[in-house]
Amino acid sequence: MRVLKSITLEKISLSASSIAPPIAHFEAPLEAPFHVCRHIRCAAQNLSTIPDLSTISSDVKSNPRCSARCRLSYARTGQRMNGTVVITGAVSGIGLSTSKLFLAKGWNVMMADFNEDLGKKVLEELLAEYSPERLAFQQCDVSSARSVDAMAQATHDSFGHVDSVINNAGIFAKGAVHEIDEDVWDRVMATDVKSIYLTTRAFVPEMIERKSGTIVNTASISGLQGDYNMAVYNAAKGAVVNLVRAMALDYGKYGIRVNNVNPGPTMTPMFRSNPQSVIDEFAQASPLGRLVQPEDIARTMYFLASDESDPITGQNIPVSAGFEIYSGQPVQD
Ligand SMILES: NC(=O)c1ccc[n+]([C@@H]2O[C@H](COP(=O)([O-])OP(=O)(O)OC[C@H]3O[C@@H](n4cnc5c(N)ncnc54)[C@H](O)[C@@H]3O)[C@@H](O)[C@H]2O)c1
Repeated sequence: MRVLKSITLEKISLSASSIAPPIAHFEAPLEAPFHVCRHIRCAAQNLSTIPDLSTISSDVKSNPRCSARCRLSYARTGQRMNGTVVITGAVSGIGLSTSKLFLAKGWNVMMADFNEDLGKKVLEELLAEYSPERLAFQQCDVSSARSVDAMAQATHDSFGHVDSVINNAGIFAKGAVHEIDEDVWDRVMATDVKSIYLTTRAFVPEMIERKSGTIVNTASISGLQGDYNMAVYNAAKGAVVNLVRAMALDYGKYGIRVNNVNPGPTMTPMFRSNPQSVIDEFAQASPLGRLVQPEDIARTMYFLASDESDPITGQNIPVSAGFEIYSGQPVQD
C-alpha cells in the first residue's frame, strides 16, 4: 500500500466507490489540492500527489457515477480529470472567448448555443487543438425547458458531471416600454432571465448532492444603471443583478457559489453591429478611454467559476473600463 502523506489509497478507493461518503475519517487537510476524477474528488481533493492507477481498486474504475468517457480517460491515462463547465451562448463573443480560456486551463467544456451552423464550425476549429473528450457542442435554446434539459442530458452523457455553469447567452432589444412588441419583450426576458432558472433547475441538484459548484451569470452594467431606449434589456439584466443574491443565499449552504459578471460595452459581434462613430463615442465615455474585450470578461468568468475566487458569492462584478461609475454631473474645473 502506497501512502500519500497520512492518507492511504485504500481509503481513496473505499470512499470513491460509494456515493458522497463522509471524509471525516481522512486525516486531511493537506496542501496542493487536486483531483484524479471528479467522482472521487471528495476523497482525493486533499492529496498532494496523483495516485498510482494500479493501486486503485477496480470498483473505483467501474463506478457507475463516472461517465464512460471519464472512466476511459482515467483508466487509460491515470491523469487527473479537470472540471467540467457548461457555457451558454458559447460560440460567439464573450462565450467563445470564455470557452477558449477554460479549454486552455484544462477544463472540459460543453458549448451550448442556439446557432447550430456557427457551433459546428467553431467546434471543428477547436477540435484541431483539443481532444473530443474535452469538448462538445450542443445546439440549445436556453429559453426552452425541453432544449435545456436535452443539453443537460448531453452534458452528462459526455462528461458525467458538471462543476460550473456559465449562463452567458443573452439578447438585446431597443425601445421605450410602450414601443416594444410583446413577443420581443417575452423573448428577451426568456433568453436573459428565465434561462438561468432553467439551467439551474437542470444542473443544481447534482451540485447540491456533491456540495460544490459554481454558477456565473453574464449580467451587464445595464442591470446596475438605467439606459435610454433599452427598457426591456434594463429590466432583464436588473433581474439578473438581484437573482444572483437570491441564488447565492439559497445555495450557499451547499457550498455552491453564484456570481455575476457585469460587462460594459464589449467588442463582440453584438456590440460591433453599431456604427463605428457610436463605438468610438462609447470608448471615449469610459474613464480608461477604451472598450472591454471579450477576453477581459473571460478572465473574470474563469476567476469566478474556479476555486481562485473562493469565498466570493452573490456579487455583481463590473468589468467595464469604469464605464458605469460616472454620476452624470457636468465636468467641474
Ligand atoms: N457585448 C456587450 O457589450 C455586452 C455588454 C453587457 C452584457 N453583455 C451580455 O453578454 C452576453 C454575451 O453577449 P455577446 O456580446 O458575447 O453577444 P454575441 O451576440 O456575440 O453572443 C451571444 C451568443 O448567444 C447565443 N444565443 C442567443 N440567444 C440564444 C438562445 N436563446 N439560446 C442559446 N444561445 C443563444 C447567440 O447565438 C450567440 O452565440 C449576453 O448575455 C449579453 O447581454 C454584452
